[in-house]
Amino acid sequence: MENSLPIDSPSLSRRQLLNFLTGAVVASTIGPALYPVAKFFSPPKEVGADGSILAKDINGNLIPASQLLAEAPGTRALVAGLAGEPTYLTIQEDGTLHPWGIVDNCTHLGCTFPWNENDDQFQCPCHGSRYDAEGRVIRGPAPLPLRLAHIYLEGDYVRIAPWVELDPRTGKKPWWV
Ligand code: FES
Repeated sequence: MENSLPIDSPSLSRRQLLNFLTGAVVASTIGPALYPVAKFFSPPKEVGADGSILAKDINGNLIPASQLLAEAPGTRALVAGLAGEPTYLTIQEDGTLHPWGIVDNCTHLGCTFPWNENDDQFQCPCHGSRYDAEGRVIRGPAPLPLRLAHIYLEGDYVRIAPWVELDPRTGKKPWWV
């Protein structure tokens, strides 16, 4: 009786080698192409070099910018901002985010307040202070305009950064700096 070697061993090895080579070619071709896509959708660093943070919802989940920008122009979206302070983001008429965030903290005694879209004002329920759409005082007792924060996009995420430059509403150093 003739002793023969199993015939599938060499062909299995060839198949494995072919699979490996095919996988390597596919990975080296598609991998670099997918990198920018993966980078776009993966969240950037939580805290930026400029002291910024990523906007989150009330449950601490990151809010995709695409979700915010799908809202109607004029929408005020309340997000968790710097030091956890609620901050209003505004969708502008052209569908972009307003570069100023308005901190939801009344300058009278610190109440939070809603946006009244009928009056186009922030209206504090505690003692009746009113602010215009950019946070200027319309009616006291609030003594000062609302605090601002910088708003900008990084990929599909929204960054909120401290505002330390001149207050564009007064042309002066911000009272909160
Ligand atoms: S805390 Fe807002 S008016 Fe007093």
